Amino acid sequence: MTARSSLTIVLAAGEGTRMRSSVPKVLHPVAGQSLLAHVLGAVPAGQGDSLAVIIGPDHAAVADEVKRIRPDAVTFVQAERLGTAHAVLAAREAIARGADDLLIVFGDTPLISADTFARLRAPLKSGAALAVLGFRAADPTGYGRLLVEDGKLIAIREQADATPAERAIKLSNAGVMAFDGRKALEIIENIGNANSKAEYYLTDAVTIVRDFGLEAVVIETSEDEVRGINTKAQLAEAEQVLQARLRKAALDAGVTMIAPDTVFLAADTSFGNDVTIEPFVVIGPGVTIADGAVIHSFSHIVQASIGKKASVGPYARLRPGTSLGDGARIGNFVETKAAILEAGVKVNHLSYIGDAHVGANTNIGAGTITCNYDGFSKHKTTIGAGAFVGTNSSLVAPVKIGNGAYIGSGSVITKEVPDDALAVERTQQVNREGGAKRYRELKTRDKPPKGS
Ligand code: UD1
Ligand code: CA
Repeated sequence: MTARSSLTIVLAAGEGTRMRSSVPKVLHPVAGQSLLAHVLGAVPAGQGDSLAVIIGPDHAAVADEVKRIRPDAVTFVQAERLGTAHAVLAAREAIARGADDLLIVFGDTPLISADTFARLRAPLKSGAALAVLGFRAADPTGYGRLLVEDGKLIAIREQADATPAERAIKLSNAGVMAFDGRKALEIIENIGNANSKAEYYLTDAVTIVRDFGLEAVVIETSEDEVRGINTKAQLAEAEQVLQARLRKAALDAGVTMIAPDTVFLAADTSFGNDVTIEPFVVIGPGVTIADGAVIHSFSHIVQASIGKKASVGPYARLRPGTSLGDGARIGNFVETKAAILEAGVKVNHLSYIGDAHVGANTNIGAGTITCNYDGFSKHKTTIGAGAFVGTNSSLVAPVKIGNGAYIGSGSVITKEVPDDALAVERTQQVNREGGAKRYRELKTRDKPPKGS
């Protein structure tokens, strides 16, 4: 049997008013990725799987995020928010193409897994017209309740329209549904808005399926997986759930973490073998850590790749575009940005290395700064292999320092330093008379009391 084709429709047209933010709700991040990116990462994405995302007017940023993750996806704008069924019909044209399975999911449900979509599609194969994802809510207030009789789903009742007895039901609608793709359009087009909010509720699809003499079923999952994000508090809860999952996955994959609860990971963090992460480390999106690397405490790393057996921190900040070669060492209070540090480079103390390329085994002394910004634009610093940059040097970009060059401490380098050259550039003014006078003054003063 050939695999069934699918169309997934992600509803993301909401403003997310309760987030109290000017950012569209689905673009808020958990574990370093937008809510939408998490959902799009879980929906079917093989051959024969197509994707449509329903966005609000003025949500170009949401459309951009969709394109970034799934260039093959189509976005549809829902001009007016008249309910979840109305939102789905914004993609009418895509539904009419008639994939085998039509999946509907909300863009604000970031913890959903690919496996759940597979489970939800299974009943369609055996003839059901609709499968609804349900969960037992600890507090079901606000959710649609699933009314089940003899193992069959007979209706979904929204909170506002539910009787007290129905409100007591814990089995709730997660919002994820799978329709028989060839019947879906007719079912959804039959949904009306005769309810207390005068909205077109997708949940009414269940009674229409029954009226058509077809079958609707419930597939259950855990509440954690279908948490919907409406508020910043719920965003923070989802972050906790996701961090717990990511830490466990990292530990299972062999990462050593002394205090995993203090380490924050991103959904796309990738680890080699024998990586150690000390307490209180924050890893943002786009980070790759190779075999045997050690990340010491209080380091903050975003969009960086860390080579084998490299050492970072404590107290290091690796910003986007940082690449550390094998065995490189970044020490305390060092910041890097758009910096390629080849194998064996050492930047052990108190430095800023930005917009730079540093050749293998070069040693950058404490307090060295790449002066990459002149107030108008950024400039590049290139340092060769096997060079030595003395402490407290200012490298005024654009500037090049050759292989094996030696920069004396405290230099301000503004011109190219050729291979193997020595550059010492200091300004020292001596006023012998002034110093002696000052020293005499101090000596003739009363000695300060002990311990001050
Ligand atoms: C919905 C379900 C409810 C379920 C709950 C799960 C309906 C009628 N109710 O309620 O049964 O228990 O989710 O979290 O479906 N959206 C649009 N356009 C619209 C309306 C909504 O794109 O016109 C999007 C929203 O952005 C959101 C999703 O659809 O991503 C759900 O809408 P929301 O208003 O949050 O529905 P709930 O009241 O939470
Ligand atoms: Ca919701």
